[in-house]
Amino acid sequence: MNSTDNSPGKGTPDGLAADPRFKVVERTLKQYQYRADALLEVLHVAQETFGCLSDELMTHVARQLRVPPSRVYGVATFYHFFTLEARGEHSCVVCTGTACYVKRSAEIVTRLENEFDVKAGKTTADGKLTLSTVRCLGSCGLAPIVVLDGETVGRCTPDSAAAAVRVMLAEKSPARAETVRPVRRRKGEGQ
Ligand code: FES
Repeated sequence: MNSTDNSPGKGTPDGLAADPRFKVVERTLKQYQYRADALLEVLHVAQETFGCLSDELMTHVARQLRVPPSRVYGVATFYHFFTLEARGEHSCVVCTGTACYVKRSAEIVTRLENEFDVKAGKTTADGKLTLSTVRCLGSCGLAPIVVLDGETVGRCTPDSAAAAVRVMLAEKSPARAETVRPVRRRKGEGQ
């Protein structure tokens, strides 16, 4: 493939061309006929397929949709759903929005950071766990909230959150007492 061809539908970077997951992104670009207003949808598929949005991937999407790379980067960093770094095998997200913060979610973050030797926003050295924080998941009545591999666990304590993460790391589908569906929010909303 030619990485210098800027025509829509062409110019696949060499590093991506060999990756079978790239076909999924290409299909999505085609499906939306390389329209600039499909940026969110395309990034969504790219994120789900690759697990993160690399510079190479974002540059390619920008070229294909004919939008400035800065716009793609801006969207990718604006929404919590997107991440620019590879995630671990398991994900733990602690809500630090106002309701959860008041119910001491910061203590949960500290406890998880210490117990699993990972800073919020990072992945453990063994690639098993990504710990991150988010501002309000829309389930404030169950604060403080932790989301484990996409499942929301309400009314956590530092102890119960750490125990749930241990279970998650040991098993594929841990049983959790009180769960609600997470609501995707944009950064800055519901704080
Ligand atoms: S502040 Fe945590 S769910 Fe709303």
